[in-house]
Amino acid sequence: MTSLLVNLEEMVRSALRSKRKTACIVMMIIALLVLMIRSRSLGSSEHIGPYGDGDVLFNHDHVVGFNIKESGKRTSVVMETRLDYLQRECTTHMDSPRDPSLDPPSELIVNEKYSIIYCNVPKVGCTNWKNVFLKIGGIDDIRIKAIQRLPTNTRGRIYLDYFHKYSNVSHRQFMLQKFTKFMFARHPFTRVLSAFRDKLAPNISYIFRIENKQRHDVNWIERYGLPIIAKYRGAEAAAAIKANLKTKYDLTFSEFVNYLIETNPLSFDKHWNPISAMCRPCDVKYNIIGKYETLDDDAEYILRSAKVDPSVKYPQASDKSATNSSSLDILRQYYSEITREQLKKLYEVYKKDFELFDYSLETFYKYVS
Ligand SMILES: *[C@@H]1O[C@H](CO)[C@@H](O)[C@H](O)[C@H]1NC(C)=O
Ligand SMILES: *[C@@H]1O[C@H](CO)[C@@H](O)[C@H](O)[C@H]1NC(C)=O
Ligand SMILES: *[C@@H]1O[C@H](CO)[C@@H](O)[C@H](O)[C@H]1NC(C)=O
Repeated sequence: MTSLLVNLEEMVRSALRSKRKTACIVMMIIALLVLMIRSRSLGSSEHIGPYGDGDVLFNHDHVVGFNIKESGKRTSVVMETRLDYLQRECTTHMDSPRDPSLDPPSELIVNEKYSIIYCNVPKVGCTNWKNVFLKIGGIDDIRIKAIQRLPTNTRGRIYLDYFHKYSNVSHRQFMLQKFTKFMFARHPFTRVLSAFRDKLAPNISYIFRIENKQRHDVNWIERYGLPIIAKYRGAEAAAAIKANLKTKYDLTFSEFVNYLIETNPLSFDKHWNPISAMCRPCDVKYNIIGKYETLDDDAEYILRSAKVDPSVKYPQASDKSATNSSSLDILRQYYSEITREQLKKLYEVYKKDFELFDYSLETFYKYVS
């Protein structure tokens, strides 16, 4: 088997050197082989961990968005409370229920071996969850460097099983009833800021941080940054900035907030689309509501509840340090750029996320100008 894989790797290498079309065909053949290897490795031994291993006491009061009522409680108790709360809120948000087996959200990722379904939302630790799903799906065991080198999100698109791609409706119903379904929420205002800092902010966002951008990556500045500047300062100003992006680009957080307030949320990018719109927590009966503010504890709880091999760990805290958008100083700095009026309107955009997941906006009134 090893020699086969070494040969495959060599094939990929030479294919990448030769013409694109051949490379595509070779990649497809490899993808098929990998799927075969993967489905064989899936039947291997099950490791059963004790339920509730990740049951810790919550104490995160220093984190913005942390719900103080959860402090000092056990994970299992907190999880029950979140579900009860959501269920009550959903009875007042019955606007337009849709059957998720007939009209499924497009963000649900399935692992049939462990009978789990995860709603994948950007800016809430999703790349790490994709890594976990790639690992438990056996994709990491495939020792082909060309595949391992692909970014997590690309490997995810190729190898993860998305719920809406299952064509068998009865099987969808079966999975929705029997599988453990989980999702993560986050305080809408730290999520919005995280998206801004990661994708659009001058000097610190993605395009300024990463030198060798991969071709498939969205050019966030071109797609959103410059059009937002054009909207609020005129096309001429935007063109002048475009001509000298590295030094002149200066989109402000306030402009981004205005864009969010004045744009139809139906056309939002995933990174700032309300979580409730993507995961539809009143349609899909989630069993566990994780929160970004307690990500490490919740992730551990979920993996142990799903009886995933104890060697599989959720990577700790990497996205948090990437943009630091939950840090008090950073929040204060950006939110002091906007007015109370803007804050209220921004709240309206994310009202459902605030209400369903029990977040409060009080802290932020202290920051605004
Ligand atoms: C559809 O799914 C159901 C439930 O899992 C299963 O019993 C049935 O055989 C599937 N039908 C087809 C055509 O695969
Ligand atoms: C970005 O960095 C450049 C060069 O260091 C600086 O001139 C510019 O003022 C910075 N822009 C913003 C909006 O901070
Ligand atoms: C986030 O905080 C860490 C530790 O304080 C720091 O090293 C890092 O540069 C910060 N990142 C950003 C983007 O500000």
